[in-house]
Amino acid sequence: MTRRDYLNWMAAGAAAAAARDASAEQQLRPGASPTPQPGDADREARMKWWHEARFGMFIHWGLYSTLGRHEWVMEQEGIPVAEYELQAKLFKPKPNAARDWARLAKLAGQKYMVMTTKHHEGFCNFDSKLTNYNAAQQGPGRDLVKEYVEAARGEGLRVGFYYSLMDWHHPDGARCLTDEAARRRFVDYIHGHVRELLTNYGKIDVLWYDVNWPLNAQQWESEKMNDMVYKLQPEIIVNDRNGLPGDFTTPEQTIRASTRAWESCMTMNGSWGYQKADDNWKTPRTIVRNLVTCAHDTGNYLLNIGPKPDGSIPEESVRILTAVGKWMEHNGSTIYQSDKCQPRSSEFAGFSRQGNTLFMHVHFWPGSTVSLGGLRNKVKSARLLNGGKDVKVDQDDFRVRFTGLPEKAPDDPVTTIAIECDGEPNQDTGYVRRERPRRGVGV
Ligand code: GLC
Repeated sequence: MTRRDYLNWMAAGAAAAAARDASAEQQLRPGASPTPQPGDADREARMKWWHEARFGMFIHWGLYSTLGRHEWVMEQEGIPVAEYELQAKLFKPKPNAARDWARLAKLAGQKYMVMTTKHHEGFCNFDSKLTNYNAAQQGPGRDLVKEYVEAARGEGLRVGFYYSLMDWHHPDGARCLTDEAARRRFVDYIHGHVRELLTNYGKIDVLWYDVNWPLNAQQWESEKMNDMVYKLQPEIIVNDRNGLPGDFTTPEQTIRASTRAWESCMTMNGSWGYQKADDNWKTPRTIVRNLVTCAHDTGNYLLNIGPKPDGSIPEESVRILTAVGKWMEHNGSTIYQSDKCQPRSSEFAGFSRQGNTLFMHVHFWPGSTVSLGGLRNKVKSARLLNGGKDVKVDQDDFRVRFTGLPEKAPDDPVTTIAIECDGEPNQDTGYVRRERPRRGVGV
């Protein structure tokens, strides 16, 4: 596909995601009374670990990885099913590749993982009684989901399953829209997969549905599906992509806070599945900034890797996540245990908060003095988070200056100043604009 097609397609995806979010949002607007969904009653308790986790690893891995041209390659290149299917025999990953994913996730400070059990291509990474188009009966010769679950648990990480409702392989995957018998078969097939996934692998923490084309929630029988999910896994949390709001909403490739629990999922380059030639990597600094932006509004960040066909992680992803992990080692507390934060205005820093402590995360280090305008609290003290060194504070009604700092950024890729305030940190830039004394015309 041309770059323009690709961009158009990405834009369409973003628009669809926005629409999805808006519809989920609508059902929760004050005044509207949404039909109670299964799982509503104990949501807060089920979601506690997830809110505290803040940072997760997404893994896109399947037959598309063997082609190395993005997970949409089958549709985007119009590959006939019979031709695409041949990849199932060629997919021969090394044993227990998932252990390296889990180790890297842990090192990066990620607390949970979400792996594609079946993407739009229709190939099941899990053993299934409902189709032989699955890892156990094809090239891999074993259940890749089982290996993944064991690897994640081995590192003490929570386990999530991504599962695509849309299916480009199943014969009823498109005609289900117009043919009732096909719909019945297809919905039974999909519900059957969900049942297998939530029955055969012990406790599962997250179910992450994707793309509900071509049916709506009623046609998918999504309420019944979620009912089954909560029955099989009473503590699970479920996303919003089967046409129902679920437990959390899922802005894609963007960070957009919501009044509901939310998780931004994002790629490290531009592709979810392995795309050999995509070298458009984000820097560790961008990733840390994104993580801070999510934490600012108590959202989660689900960051993707697209392993190669043998299961190994692209070197760039390893490099980026390792750098992020180093930062998380001494800055993690500002992310995991953060409260919703009000101050947000700076051209070189992002913010997070814990109680009365404001964390100023400086990504463009200005030099020996770092200033913040409009903070309405009295600053009691400040320190560099990494190393704990006290920082001198100079404050008047309009700005607070942190002085005597090194010329060069003391931490990499972002330096955090912990600012102890006399109350919940509050910034009012309007106050600066209105009240800062003006002088006469001319100087
Ligand atoms: C989209 C894409 C898909 C990717 C997913 C991740 O729905 O179709 O390829 O898996 O988003 O959020």
